[in-house]
Amino acid sequence: MTKIKIGQVGLGRLGKVHASNIVKHVNNAELYAVASVVEQELEYASETLGVQHCYTSYSDMLDNDALDAVVIASPSGFHAVQITQALEKGLHVFSEKPIGLELENIRQVVDKIHDHPHKVFQLGFMRRFDESYLYAKDAVDRGELGKITAMRCYGIDPSSGLDRFIQFAKNSASGGLFLDMSIHDIDLVRWFTGSEFKTVYSLGNNIAAPELTACDELETGACLSELEDGTIAYFLAGRNAQHGYHVETEIIGTEGMIRIGNAPEKNLVTLYDKNGVVRPTSDHFPERFRFAFINEMNTFVSTIKNKDQSSVTAMDGLKSTEVAIAMQNSIETKKVITL
Ligand code: NAI
Repeated sequence: MTKIKIGQVGLGRLGKVHASNIVKHVNNAELYAVASVVEQELEYASETLGVQHCYTSYSDMLDNDALDAVVIASPSGFHAVQITQALEKGLHVFSEKPIGLELENIRQVVDKIHDHPHKVFQLGFMRRFDESYLYAKDAVDRGELGKITAMRCYGIDPSSGLDRFIQFAKNSASGGLFLDMSIHDIDLVRWFTGSEFKTVYSLGNNIAAPELTACDELETGACLSELEDGTIAYFLAGRNAQHGYHVETEIIGTEGMIRIGNAPEKNLVTLYDKNGVVRPTSDHFPERFRFAFINEMNTFVSTIKNKDQSSVTAMDGLKSTEVAIAMQNSIETKKVITL
């Protein structure tokens, strides 16, 4: 069977995870080319992953006619233009979230994606491919919780990455805490409830990292929201979890409730020693979502092969971004925002 030839742009924190997964865990694809502006990253791709076609320019990579698809793992500000360029070259596209940083721009990209219905577009909402979330979704869809009344979503990065984020924030824009982090939780709420957001009200502070105020960033943010079907959703996003990478979701229904990741356990080990009873925790997203990243890439490739429709669409990206931007607006205006 011919393999799908993928060209990937971006080989940073997440790009390396995708690239290595394509090489090691996606049987029906080949990492045919990569593009990055960092020379050492291209050396890594060539020497460690055996990639033959390495480019310092994304446009030059797209000129390689052998490509079938691209994987975009560059900084968020580049996604919109890189998705557009790839579609214009007739390629299938997997893009990391978000599609873009500004709504008008995202809407134009969504139109462009819809103009290419025979090209697969999949957005990187990998939690939908995590086995715990899939298990919970199945239970919810079978009606085990009855009707959903409320959801609670925590996404808190480990403290070990806070200094690096502060350095990053001094020179670059993340898009804001909600667009950068809560977007996964927003997508989960839409996915589990099948409903859209109606109103949001957010608060934020920098008690744990006062330096972020000068960068116009937040360390902690929270939002209370109402969905069109009446579900209440509460979000907390932060960058200072002392115990590791904390992603937790609670779904409360009329007949029961589910918690996913209420402690961010690394594995099944429990350590009993002079400190008491200790459960080791996940340190970062590549560890917690290791299999989700592999599953989402296999799904992208099999969707292309089977000429299917993507299950994580451009519209999912647009809707989630609209909500994240409304959450940010609420911080700035100190008002309830209606979507
Ligand atoms: P990073 O800063 O570690 O890596 C960015 C990469 O893009 C580097 O390889 C850099 O050389 C390359 N790059 C920058 N400008 C370029 C250009 N003009 N042309 C070609 N390559 C260029 O960033 P990170 O953390 O890997 O994030 C990348 C994207 O992935 C972001 O959009 C982020 O939102 C998303 N992300 C998604 C996660 C998820 O949970 N799904 C987790 C982390 C990041």
